[in-house]
Amino acid sequence: MFYPKAIINLDNLAHNYRLIKDQLNNIPIMAVVKANAYGHGVIEISKVLRNEGVKFFAVFTFNEALELRDAGITEDILVFCRPTKQMLDIAFEKDITLNLCDPDDVRLFCEANHSPKFHLKVDTGMTRLGISFNEVYKIIETIKNEKLNCHGIYSHYATADEGDLSYAEYQLDQFNELLEFLEKINLTVKFIHFSNSGTVINMPHSSYNLVRVGMLLYGSFPSDEVPRDLSIKPVMEFKGPVVSLRKVKAGTKVSYGGVWEANEDTVIGVVQTGFADGFPRGWYMNGFISLRGNKHPIAGRVCMDQFMVDFGDAEVEVGDEVLIFGQNEVDKILVDDIAKDIGSTSYVILTGIRGRTERKYIN
Ligand SMILES: Cc1ncc(COP(=O)(O)O)c(C=O)c1O
Repeated sequence: MFYPKAIINLDNLAHNYRLIKDQLNNIPIMAVVKANAYGHGVIEISKVLRNEGVKFFAVFTFNEALELRDAGITEDILVFCRPTKQMLDIAFEKDITLNLCDPDDVRLFCEANHSPKFHLKVDTGMTRLGISFNEVYKIIETIKNEKLNCHGIYSHYATADEGDLSYAEYQLDQFNELLEFLEKINLTVKFIHFSNSGTVINMPHSSYNLVRVGMLLYGSFPSDEVPRDLSIKPVMEFKGPVVSLRKVKAGTKVSYGGVWEANEDTVIGVVQTGFADGFPRGWYMNGFISLRGNKHPIAGRVCMDQFMVDFGDAEVEVGDEVLIFGQNEVDKILVDDIAKDIGSTSYVILTGIRGRTERKYIN
């Protein structure tokens, strides 16, 4: 049977984790495993990280947290989404940490039978979830007076992975101002976190006592504007099988729109992986795959279930698996490079791995 494969190298994951931990001088890492661990498979990824010593996980939805608990992950889990009344009792019972991120959430926690733990999210410039700066002081006073179960305070950078870090520094200044206020009113909060993959590299001075890391763990850089000094290894190898080969004459058009034409006699292979499986559809103008260490151009537009490759006179057989992105002993194509070429991001491409793609875990 033919199907696309995402081979997940768990040793590479552990390698990346240790490297980042060293880079952070052992400040604890909150592993961001939302969206199925960025497409890698949340349970397997979380178990490896837990065995490596991770004590904190972050997901986006409450269901993602429940899935981790059901799989036996007993470590701390922070849920990034807006809390609802229905979550509170279950969160308390399952020891899941919620996100107080809107002025209306305060009432929820005040009225709860048993208030679960929460982290207070402050908006310092992302203008997404998080209490605005002009309201946060009042809310902190309420948290103190009502003795709410606040275990952490955090914010999120809007531009941490950009070359120009002035806006990130402005966000950090605001956050620090708030921390001074906490000190002034004698409110001790156990965990303080702001950093993500971009700032692990770019702004190590914003690490505090917990660092939320996603993308670097999976072996990609958050953008092409951060230095690629850290020797992380891609965790996912995305491959597709060659299912058909045919000789074609120069001038033969390939795929929808007939936008690609063979400029000499060649061999066209059909690979059974399409954009419905997560193949980045834009990756055909300059796109290529790798087989046994050699790169071969993609021929024509990517289809829903398949794409075509110009193999020229390469040695190739039906059943061969081509590397779309990732790394093995002989082939290497960085998802970061594909993202750059097609004006996308590694986040979009990795979380887009789906459809008929089978995940296989190797060490
Ligand atoms: C609130 C929050 N923190 C941390 C992260 C992790 O970011 P990164 O994958 O760049 O490390 C994300 C990811 O989108 C996020 O939304």
